[in-house]
Amino acid sequence: MLELKDIYFTIEKNDEEVHLINDASLKVNSGHFMAIVGPSGCGKTTLLKLIAGLNVESKGNIYWNGRDLSEDGDLEPSEIGYVPQFSIAYELLTVEESIRSAIRLRVRTRRGEFRELLERVMEETGLTTLRGRPVRVLSGGQRRRLSLALELVTNPVLMLCDEVTSGLDPKSEQEIVKLLHQLSRSSGRIVVNVTHSLANLDLYDSVLVLHEGRIVYHGQPRALEHYFSVTIAEDIYPRLAKRESEDWGSSWKKHRKDYYEALDSAAQATPNSSVGISANGDDMVSSAIPGFMVQFFVLLFRRWKLFLRDGGQLFLQIAILLGFPMLVVIFALDGIEPIQKLSETIAANPLEEAQQQADIFKSHLKTGGLISGLIMFQVILLTLMASNNSAREIAGERRIYEKERFGGLSPISYLASKVAYLGFMVIVQSVWMAVFVQNICHLPTANFGMHLMLLLAVNAAMTSICLGISAMSKSAEQASLLSVYLVGFQLPLSGAVLALPAAGEWLTRPFISAYWAWSGGVSALNSDARGAVDTVIDTSLQASWLCLLILGIHFAVGMFAAYVGVKKNRCL
Ligand SMILES: Nc1ncnc2c1ncn2[C@@H]1O[C@H](COP(=O)(O)OP(=O)(O)OP(=O)(O)O)[C@@H](O)[C@H]1O
Ligand SMILES: [Mg+2]
Repeated sequence: MLELKDIYFTIEKNDEEVHLINDASLKVNSGHFMAIVGPSGCGKTTLLKLIAGLNVESKGNIYWNGRDLSEDGDLEPSEIGYVPQFSIAYELLTVEESIRSAIRLRVRTRRGEFRELLERVMEETGLTTLRGRPVRVLSGGQRRRLSLALELVTNPVLMLCDEVTSGLDPKSEQEIVKLLHQLSRSSGRIVVNVTHSLANLDLYDSVLVLHEGRIVYHGQPRALEHYFSVTIAEDIYPRLAKRESEDWGSSWKKHRKDYYEALDSAAQATPNSSVGISANGDDMVSSAIPGFMVQFFVLLFRRWKLFLRDGGQLFLQIAILLGFPMLVVIFALDGIEPIQKLSETIAANPLEEAQQQADIFKSHLKTGGLISGLIMFQVILLTLMASNNSAREIAGERRIYEKERFGGLSPISYLASKVAYLGFMVIVQSVWMAVFVQNICHLPTANFGMHLMLLLAVNAAMTSICLGISAMSKSAEQASLLSVYLVGFQLPLSGAVLALPAAGEWLTRPFISAYWAWSGGVSALNSDARGAVDTVIDTSLQASWLCLLILGIHFAVGMFAAYVGVKKNRCL
């Protein structure tokens, strides 16, 4: 049994307290199908989130089978099915793949039970014939069925559905309400459906009417017209507007007892037959959530599948993987000339010697500029790849992620799967950039291993920072924009092209990953090449190991931001 006692949900607006939910009390028996209706903005979603534990009540208590949820802890993720208004499946997966991944992430099945559960959930939601269909081609009604199926994998005792019928044609709407009705007939399961539609109310066991945050009716659907003195249910909303919500609320408190008695006797007259499977008590579904490694591999495998199916993303990744190093090489087509030492001049007379030294100096300028430019070009293109790798990675799937986290997904497993997926990208991109360019341009490095490590480090650091931005951003668009700005500022603020004023240099430099990768790269050149670069730049260089260390810190900062970001609640 679900019971809410004197619940308030209060926010502060312009220094005033506003009760979004005002003194709500209700009781729902097991195996019950309830509608929450009310005009837009009256607090239906807020109330549903309070029941789900997504909103925390400011006052009052919520009980589940007599257990105080605020004191004894919320229901287990496997006990609640929460279906939000938005779609919670990946467009590129099929119906069956979506349900499979929901089962793997949320349920520990014993040998042979996986297939049985999969088939049962598809059958219950009428999706068996659509199993191979990609989510992107599903109709509105079919998508809602899939959303329900994803929640049914744990066989929850409480199903909370937010507007799962909105935007559907009348026939599909009725089909979904019938399906929900059927789901409430699994013994013990309570199904709550938020809707502003007043059609099909007779399919519910009870209807709760909310008006400006107050419960103004909760009883049998057939008594609704009588209570509000209207002839058809559709007239209820205009009728509500005619009185203050406070009046409606206090009238309801007076009548509540009678209507609850009527509800109780109706429930006793038609006890819920335990058709179907018992909710959650079923031995096939264990309430224990799969461990870190299982969730990690399910997510990693799914991420690769999505990547390989997304033609546009795949093409772009391959194009930049191959194209960017080629772009670097094109600028070095003239070749890097061997560097002659100024002291090695062997001219016959002072005039010739001066001329020879001037020629060598000119060649140093050209070669030094080219070497420095090539290293910076490698670095900048890798930072661009980094932002392309991760800017949308979390922000683009935030809703699905938060829904899965609510269902029991561990944020650490999620983050670890991202690190593994992106880590592979970073290694391939950086190694290919370093090796390809080196084979053609023969950069005069004293330590190619260090050069390679620095390229790896700058790509990893920027990928990590952009992942952090992605996790902290409100939308994928915002994350992309911020990441593009971040990459855009790398070159001018690195000091590799034009030296910055001293004060600006010390203010910005610590944050510019490109500077550290470039500076470390130049320091890893052989001494002649470093001398040649010194003749063209006016910027101080740092030891390679120090640069690696700073890039390591940038990586850690990005990871920390990503961790904080994946803990946040933005969509639910
Ligand atoms: N966390 C919050 N902070 C401030 N205001 C909020 C918060 N949550 C909800 N609201 C406000 O509370 C009111 C009720 O919102 P809610 O989403 O519950 O309405 P609803 O009945 O579900 O509406 P709809 O039918 O349009 O979905 C709205 O005015 C909304 O802007
Ligand atoms: Mg709502």
